Amino acid sequence: MAAVANSELNGSPTERTAQLLRLQSAACREIGSPLYGDLLALAADDLLVGGPVAQVLAGHLQTRPAGVLALRMLGAAHALALSGRAPELAAWYPSAGGVIDSEPGSPHAWAALKNTLAEQPDAIRPWLDWPPQTNEVGRAAALIGGLLNIAAQESLPIRLVEVGASAGLNLRADQFYVPGDASSYGDPGSPVVLSHGWQGAAPPDSHVEVIERTGADLAPIDPTSAHGQLTLTAYVWPDQTDRLARLRGALAVARSVPAELRTESATRTVTSIELVPGTWTVLWHSIFRQYLDETQRAELAEGVAALGAAATGQARFAYLYLEQSRSGGCPVVLTTWPGGERRVLGTASPHGIPVHWSAPTSARP
Ligand SMILES: C[S@@+](CC[C@H](N)C(=O)[O-])C[C@H]1O[C@@H](n2cnc3c(N)ncnc32)[C@H](O)[C@@H]1O
Repeated sequence: MAAVANSELNGSPTERTAQLLRLQSAACREIGSPLYGDLLALAADDLLVGGPVAQVLAGHLQTRPAGVLALRMLGAAHALALSGRAPELAAWYPSAGGVIDSEPGSPHAWAALKNTLAEQPDAIRPWLDWPPQTNEVGRAAALIGGLLNIAAQESLPIRLVEVGASAGLNLRADQFYVPGDASSYGDPGSPVVLSHGWQGAAPPDSHVEVIERTGADLAPIDPTSAHGQLTLTAYVWPDQTDRLARLRGALAVARSVPAELRTESATRTVTSIELVPGTWTVLWHSIFRQYLDETQRAELAEGVAALGAAATGQARFAYLYLEQSRSGGCPVVLTTWPGGERRVLGTASPHGIPVHWSAPTSARP
């Protein structure tokens, strides 16, 4: 969903939240989940008439728009369906072995969701306290292209650091496969195939060697535990089978390619990074900045500037991100030091795939 400011909403907290549910409904529809498009439109109506959605969301109507309350609620219900605790709902979720509701508006799926919310509010509410941890593997298509650009600039081993890493699945991006006509990356036998991942000008054909993988998150998820795997799957939308396949592949890679995952704020992570001679240190984040307040954003920017100032030709630093812009697109932006050259490498969908790579343009340092 494109970033929405509080000032763009109007009415009571209930009315504002209903507007957010409708905006999220449109966003889900646009990026490939007709099911969530239908369910959230109906959930908005239910909230306004004081139905089960209103009961579940009571006390949470002041959540910032960027907190995506709608996806917190739906993630909770999806977890119940996936774990056998909401069989009525599972029957309409392909991810849980069910079928797509073929009637316009998904009335059967909505009836099942409404019943689940009405019957199990206490199982839903704890999920409302945390931002969705959608560790979207498709975003690795942007990360891989960024790493190829970095390695093309200077071929050095890479120490990869991710803030807001969720389960750190994308710290293994170099192990994934991106097929393409003009250019492809990786081992075709990888469990993760990022089909249609790249469009436009292909990234450079350079050699990427990742020697360290460190992720941090306020609430990291262990991708090797059963609970972690359920949580990650619950945040994928139930009718998006491609995303589910990517996730399952990445969970398999995570079992064989270790990464360090810390429980800490992005501010703490960035201020604790030290550059190492003979390497690139690459700081990466995706669809994470919207969760920061102004102070946290300023701290992140200050930390990046300090690392840039400390970089040398031997101990290099790169800052790479995929984040939503106010205009709705998600630019992939790379800045490298020494020098501080900033380039918009391309634009991606919020789930990463496809990335439209542009011919690199230099912007402000
Ligand atoms: C939408 S998820 C994106 C996860 C991952 N970057 C991806 O693209 O798949 C946002 C993540 O940011 C984390 N987060 C939010 N605020 C944070 C902060 N101040 N420091 C570290 N992590 C934070 C959340 O816990 C959540 O896991």
